[in-house]
Amino acid sequence: MRSLNGDWKFRWSPAAQGLDDAAADPDFDDAGWDTIPVPSHWVLPGTSAKAQEGRYGRPIYTNTRYPFPIDPPHAPDENPTGDHRRTFEVPEWPAQRVLLRFDGVESVYRVWLNGIEIGIGKGSRLVQEFDITGMTRPGRNVILVRVHQWSSMSYLEDQDQWWLPGIFRDVTVLSRPYGAVEDVWLRTEYAADGTGSIDPEIVASELAFPIAIQIPELGVDRQFAHPRDIGAFSVGQVEPWSAEVPRLYEARVSSAGETLRLRLGFRRIQIDGDVLSVNSRQVIFRGVNRHETHPVLGRMFDEEFAKADLIMMKRAGVNAIRTSHYPPHPGVLDLADELGFWVIDECDYETHGFEVCAWQGNPSDDPRWAGSCIDRMTRTVERDKNHPSVIIWSLGNEAGTGRNLAQMADWVRHRDPERPVHYEGDHTCAYADIYSRMYPNYLETEAIGAERGVIFYLKDPADAERVRSKPFLMCEYVHAMGNGPGGMIIYDELTERHPRLHGGFVWEWRDHGLLTRAPDGTEFYGYGGDFGEVVHDGNFVMDGMLLPDGTPTPSLAEFTRVNQPILFDFDGSLVTIRNRYHTLSTEHLSFVAVKEVDGYPVAEADVQVPAIAPGCKATVTLPDDLVRPGSGETWLTMRAELAEATAWAEQGHEVALGQYDLTAPEMIAASPRWPAPPALMPQEPMITLGRAQFDAHSGRLLRLYEMEVDGPRLELWRAPTDNDRSSARGSFELGRPDETDGEGVAGPSSDQRWRERGLDRLVHRLDRIFHDHDQLLAVVRTSAAGTNLFVDVSYQWRLTDGLAVLISIMPSPGWDCTWPRVGVRFDLPSELRHASWFGTGPNESYPDTRKAARVGRFSADVDELNVAYSRPQETGHRSELRTLAISDGTTERLRVTTWPNQEEHRPGFTLSTHTPQQLDRARHPYELAISDRVYLFLDDAVHGIGSRACGVDVLPEHALWPGERQFGFEFSSRDVSRR
Ligand code: GAL
Repeated sequence: MRSLNGDWKFRWSPAAQGLDDAAADPDFDDAGWDTIPVPSHWVLPGTSAKAQEGRYGRPIYTNTRYPFPIDPPHAPDENPTGDHRRTFEVPEWPAQRVLLRFDGVESVYRVWLNGIEIGIGKGSRLVQEFDITGMTRPGRNVILVRVHQWSSMSYLEDQDQWWLPGIFRDVTVLSRPYGAVEDVWLRTEYAADGTGSIDPEIVASELAFPIAIQIPELGVDRQFAHPRDIGAFSVGQVEPWSAEVPRLYEARVSSAGETLRLRLGFRRIQIDGDVLSVNSRQVIFRGVNRHETHPVLGRMFDEEFAKADLIMMKRAGVNAIRTSHYPPHPGVLDLADELGFWVIDECDYETHGFEVCAWQGNPSDDPRWAGSCIDRMTRTVERDKNHPSVIIWSLGNEAGTGRNLAQMADWVRHRDPERPVHYEGDHTCAYADIYSRMYPNYLETEAIGAERGVIFYLKDPADAERVRSKPFLMCEYVHAMGNGPGGMIIYDELTERHPRLHGGFVWEWRDHGLLTRAPDGTEFYGYGGDFGEVVHDGNFVMDGMLLPDGTPTPSLAEFTRVNQPILFDFDGSLVTIRNRYHTLSTEHLSFVAVKEVDGYPVAEADVQVPAIAPGCKATVTLPDDLVRPGSGETWLTMRAELAEATAWAEQGHEVALGQYDLTAPEMIAASPRWPAPPALMPQEPMITLGRAQFDAHSGRLLRLYEMEVDGPRLELWRAPTDNDRSSARGSFELGRPDETDGEGVAGPSSDQRWRERGLDRLVHRLDRIFHDHDQLLAVVRTSAAGTNLFVDVSYQWRLTDGLAVLISIMPSPGWDCTWPRVGVRFDLPSELRHASWFGTGPNESYPDTRKAARVGRFSADVDELNVAYSRPQETGHRSELRTLAISDGTTERLRVTTWPNQEEHRPGFTLSTHTPQQLDRARHPYELAISDRVYLFLDDAVHGIGSRACGVDVLPEHALWPGERQFGFEFSSRDVSRR
């Protein structure tokens, strides 16, 4: 085996015809060519100095649109083409066959070896081998690979991702010795009695025999003298493979010419009616869609990088991967076998761009494309068939429907009867074994799980019956674009309720941002439009739970909590622990309980939990002192942690958490009493209350504890999230889900509705102001240009031990849209960058993303408090604040204490270096100028997040509608004398 990875000579032309074939000649002089690494994508800045200048074209991002005319099977004349040329030496191989293998080249390529054209390669994310037996020579060999960016095949590769031409996976010359095995498939099986068996399929010439299969660990040594001897055999008792216990056995297949090594996993996949099981237990997918994407390398495989991501997935409780939307580098599946993931392996096939012409001419239903379709499916299955992690084959993604897909399904069922066929576009399950949908709304999901209710896209009642007779999964759901997704927990609750529902795969794991530079040299992660594309789809490619640099956004913590394998249900001193694992009992976990009073730990104990089998539960009594309320707000937190280190986490890694409020009713803080408001009109321009000074003209607080401040100012605006900005699906503001089959009504985005009503540009007018020696009342009318809608806000200040304020909000009649938030802003000196708080954390939380928010004490500085989403947007709200101390890093300068209202609800806070208006204007984080203020927001309520960028809107119960409200808090300063 000889790897041809490394430096290649490279030249480029913007057109397919631009490069002459003379370069194929071994004597051609390529000294004037550039050098680029293989593997690489020639458009990526990191590839070479010229690529950095954009001399070889640039990345293009489109979601569904083809970035060329729909004129199948033709490619445009403007077809960027790259010649890759190198020399290599091979030894004098005593080989029966020599193969040249390409693991991935985008899109179509011609190969010449030593001046002879040896073939054309197609299928960008599929392996291709050329037989070059007799064509290499000892000493110097010259290879030329001409890669065209566009080809007829581009019509079949319209996945939502960057178009990245080049030889982006390995190139290898393989010598196949005499007596080698051409292909092997060790089909394993795991029987209910715990025994394993192998049904081998070996393709080899007579020369290769005898062939032996050995599994030393199982004492297996099976000899086949002749091809006709090959048959299934038992290997005795084995430990099964599962995503949770990925038990692999080393096997050797020795033929006359060579010994191959494989790793086997024994498992049995079954569909019984509407239940999909592995090893006789139902599988629930707590999965993610994983693209191959790296901020510098594009779709190139980097083992360390891929492994780090998969380990992060394991740590976050992800148990499944859909290889959206093509087979990954084989190394990814090796890792999946090893670390343990249920994998849907998807074929490299998507024709989404035909949707704009109502699928007319769609290759999926045109017999002229049948060969290409079957070829793609064949190459997917043949390459990956030995991986135990692969439990489902997927025909592709968003390719409409049609005969060719049905044929692909038939081919798979014939070739691999064990693994079910998945294809989301088959809405009636005409040829798929699993019913799959993307982004179904809650009501429809419920309807699919139940026996009645509206299921979309079905033509007659028999279809409904058919799809309900299959296991259901969501190959994509909850769209993790920007802040969000909201409402993840609801899908989990539905999955718990309806056995037909098998969970799903979050869209998606990671933002696809590509590292690039602004004109002034500042590095940033680019998205659609940042590379001068003619057509593009903006930041729709930034929709992962990880930012491009690998930083997890709060959605990952939310995913973890929603999907945790252990659930706690508290009732007095009893806690019921439910095991949601597939294979594991609770024996690998230790359980710890901590009691905290006002956020400080006062008692901690290991809790002895009996071994709970998967799917079962047990109730345990907690010791008295742990459940006895303390003299303050009291919470019990219970954690399940790994008792031993695993391949992906250290001992003590938290896999599940539950919290229980033990606070005695008399310990719930009461709101302060408010005396009658003052009645004195101000005489001076400034009004002083203790160490606070107010501007008599605006009613605003301008000095507090010797600091310059400015506020409060009512704020109703947030920098719209990607979900707020989208109108891709129906609005629940305009149509309740329960009245619209869960879809809402087509209509403008929340962002648009909010802007139309001026929420982003509020102005304020002091209506009246009164004071006395320890009180101040300012009534301010807040409104926006061009509208008669307004909000009257009264700020009632009172000197207490600190300085308390009660804020009453009275909207005018006529408001007909939700509000993004309702709260007040204070501008603080820029050095007040550090927050310590008792409330919920550690991450931001909104009404529908609150599962991971726990009650406790946290601290973070202003940058950590806010997420640098790939496109700046609302971030950083922490719900239900108790106390917040803001410091300059060494000294606490300001303290905020809230009190609960009658519903025991308290305001939340945001501390940010930018206003929502500034965030709103920036397209990338680097565009946000360094700020000379820190902004503190105390919000009584915020609007939910939803998933409308590609999914459902914010549910009515998480929406914020204008209404009268009252909330308050108290400022104090700790280091200096009172008042
Ligand atoms: C789906 C598609 C994905 C991605 C997602 C939205 O329709 O299958 O590839 O485009 O929507 O981000």
